[in-house]
Amino acid sequence: MTEVFNPLVSRTLSQLPHRLHRKSSWTEHTPFAMLLVELLQPRTIVELGTQHGVSYCSFCQAVDELQLPTRCRAVDTWKGDAHATYYKESVYTELLEHHRRYESFSQLLRMTFDEALPQFPAASVDLLHIDGLHTYEAVKKDYETWRPKLSERAVVLFHDTMETQNGFGVHQLWRELSPNFPAFNFEHGHGLGVLAVGAQAQQPVLDFLATASANPASTRALFAALGRRVQLETEKQWLARQSAFGRTLAALKSKPHSA
Ligand SMILES: C[S@@+](CC[C@H](N)C(=O)[O-])C[C@H]1O[C@@H](n2cnc3c(N)ncnc32)[C@H](O)[C@@H]1O
Repeated sequence: MTEVFNPLVSRTLSQLPHRLHRKSSWTEHTPFAMLLVELLQPRTIVELGTQHGVSYCSFCQAVDELQLPTRCRAVDTWKGDAHATYYKESVYTELLEHHRRYESFSQLLRMTFDEALPQFPAASVDLLHIDGLHTYEAVKKDYETWRPKLSERAVVLFHDTMETQNGFGVHQLWRELSPNFPAFNFEHGHGLGVLAVGAQAQQPVLDFLATASANPASTRALFAALGRRVQLETEKQWLARQSAFGRTLAALKSKPHSA
């Protein structure tokens, strides 16, 4: 029986993510990511497209804090793509350093999404986050090639459902898929589609989706506000680092040269 989702009983919703990065466009969805791990209690999480690791580390943080027996895998070439742009090696090495704390249950798979497929048995993935190249063709291919890997309780997340410019086509796939499953689309943070694909979805996930779908405006307002808090924290920490750097630089400049 469906029950109303009650955010007050959540252990994760008020948490701030440890992994923040100013260049990630995913920051505002981290509160939902952590809540979803709590509701779904996934046995396996796979992320396609990780870059700085903001989304991925928020899943890992929730797994860690809730002490779940979840296996997490992030797949990325860590080279970039036409939408994310092509970036330098330090994106990977910095994430590797932060990620050390999750190594007991998580792995960064540095390869293409296709190369990673054989590592996962059929019907084994409970949570799949698709965030690679965002053209319609690419995201459809990612969904279809990974579809056989989804379990009976699987949830799929699609980022950038609200982007319609610059060749982004997630919105089109979302329009095709979302009428066929329990689903909800967050409109802030470039859009995040939540699709309960598995035929035997977990009841807490169904409760959340039913409550959100019956109350879309207040659900979107709540998660946008929670997301803005994380975005502001990201900016605050960045400014603090900048001013610490500025102070160090000023101190070095004022130091007399020794002979
Ligand atoms: C938008 S970024 C991911 C952002 C990330 N989820 C976050 O939290 O900010 C997309 C990433 O997908 C990766 N990518 C795109 N297509 C890929 C493919 N076919 N195989 C492996 N990595 C891919 C790129 O290297 C890039 O790092």
